[in-house]
This record gives sequence, C-alpha cells and structure tokens, in this order.
Amino acid sequence: MMDSVIVFDNVTKKYPLYHHIGSGIKELLFNPKRALSLFRGRQYLAIENISFTVEKGEAVALIGRNGAGKSTSLGLVAGVIKPTAGKVTTRGRVASMLELGGGFHPELTGRENIYLNATLLGLRRKEVQQRIDKIIDFSELGQFIDEPIRVYSSGMLAKLGFSVITQVDPDVLIIDEVLAVGDISFQAKCIQTIKEFKSRGVTILFVSHNMNDVEKICDRVVWIENHKLKQIGPAKDVVEQYKKAMA
Ligand SMILES: Nc1ncnc2c1ncn2[C@@H]1O[C@H](COP(=O)(O)OP(=O)(O)O)[C@@H](O)[C@H]1O
Ligand SMILES: [Mg+2]
Repeated sequence: MMDSVIVFDNVTKKYPLYHHIGSGIKELLFNPKRALSLFRGRQYLAIENISFTVEKGEAVALIGRNGAGKSTSLGLVAGVIKPTAGKVTTRGRVASMLELGGGFHPELTGRENIYLNATLLGLRRKEVQQRIDKIIDFSELGQFIDEPIRVYSSGMLAKLGFSVITQVDPDVLIIDEVLAVGDISFQAKCIQTIKEFKSRGVTILFVSHNMNDVEKICDRVVWIENHKLKQIGPAKDVVEQYKKAMA
C-alpha cells in the first residue's frame, strides 16, 4: 500500500443537485417520488465509499453500467475533480484522455491542437516539434490535420487525442471509453500502444465496455455497480462474473 501509485481510500463523490436540475424537472413530471427525494437530498451521488489501490506497472480496468461512476473515478485520479469524502492519491506524472476533445480548442487545426494538448500533457515545445511527425502519422488524419477540429467527427477527435498520448512520457495513463468511437483498426493500434506503455512500466487505469480488451490488457478489474464497489480481482474472474450479471 505504501508504494501504490493510485490509492482510493473510502472515496465518496456527490455532485451538487443543480447539475441535475434539468433531469429533475423531467423526473418531477414522470417520477415525482424520486424527484422529491433527490431535491430533499440536494446532492447527487456519483460514487460511494470506494476503496482500492493500483500498484506500479499494473493495468486495471474499471467496468460497470453507464452511470455507475467510472468516469467520476477516473476524474478523481486525474485530479480534475475533488472527492466529497475520503482521499485519492496519485503518484507521478499523469496523462489522461477523459473526454472527446478534452484539452483541445475547436477553432484550432489538428496540428495546432497537437501543440496545445501535448503541452498540457507536459511536453516542451521542442519535444513536440521532434515528435509531431510521429503523432500525425499515428493519427491517420491525412490532410484533415490542417483543418479546424470543429469539422472532425468523434472518431477523428479520438484519433487526434490518442495520437498525442502515444508520444508523452507518463507514469500513469488514464483513458476513458473515448477510444470506442474510433474504427476497429485504430482501436487495435491503441490497444497495442497501451500494451507497450504497460511493458515500459507505466501504470494504467482505463474504462472500457470491450471485455476482450479488458482481459487482454488488464491484470485486475474493478467492477462498479450503482456507485459502489461490487467486485475487485483478477481480470478474468471479474469479467466472468460481470458477463454473467449482464446476460
Ligand atoms: N458533472 C456532473 N454533474 C452532476 N452529476 C454528474 C456529473 N458527472 C457525472 N454525474 C453523475 O454521476 C453518476 C456517475 O457518472 P459517471 O461517473 O459519468 O458514470 P460512468 O462513467 O460509469 O457512466 C451519474 O449518475 C451521472 O449522472
Ligand atoms: Mg463514463
């Protein structure tokens, strides 16, 4: 536990209710009982009392239904949100890909966004200059690289985002399910890259609904259900239980 790269210690995250006021109004119409209880609580629970650790060089997947609390957990590890209770510790340099187009500017071209994003991920300008050809090559974006990214499809955005990741040097790599929007051959390239990071000792935490990828890459799996930790263990075991529960 002392050397763990990621420590989740009894972590709870609640969002203020006003984030949900839109759905609250809908609920008030269609499900007044739940809406009232939500308003009374004034806070919306995202994850509750979750504890786990990730050791150096380990690859761990978070799995679970939509809305379970996976992205919230990744955001806490990346430090972009703070827990309501409990403590999250992350050691080392973190590179994260949490949402499509996160760390990008819509009016800048793909090439300009590479500079922006790579700098946010800790590369110096000179390092970006040295690596940009590799990044563009990996992205498969062709002439689109010099178009503003507001014209990109979600798949193209994912390609751009992950291509930058391939050329940064993190201790911890955090990837949300954004890769799922890329085409199959690009997804395979990403999985290969993640494996290479792993073999270099990078600690990996990622979210995927693709259980083949999860079993291919991960040592262990954290299954979150209804905002709580349902099961944690060797990838194969947890995936098997999860599949059974979803069937
Ligand atoms: N920024 C936010 N503001 C308010 N509620 C949020 C926010 N982000 C997520 N939630 C809520 O927290 C719960 C967990 O969401 P999330 O972590 O995104 O789940 P997952 O990634 O597993 O689909 C959901 O019920 C979601 O509606
Ligand atoms: Mg999510």
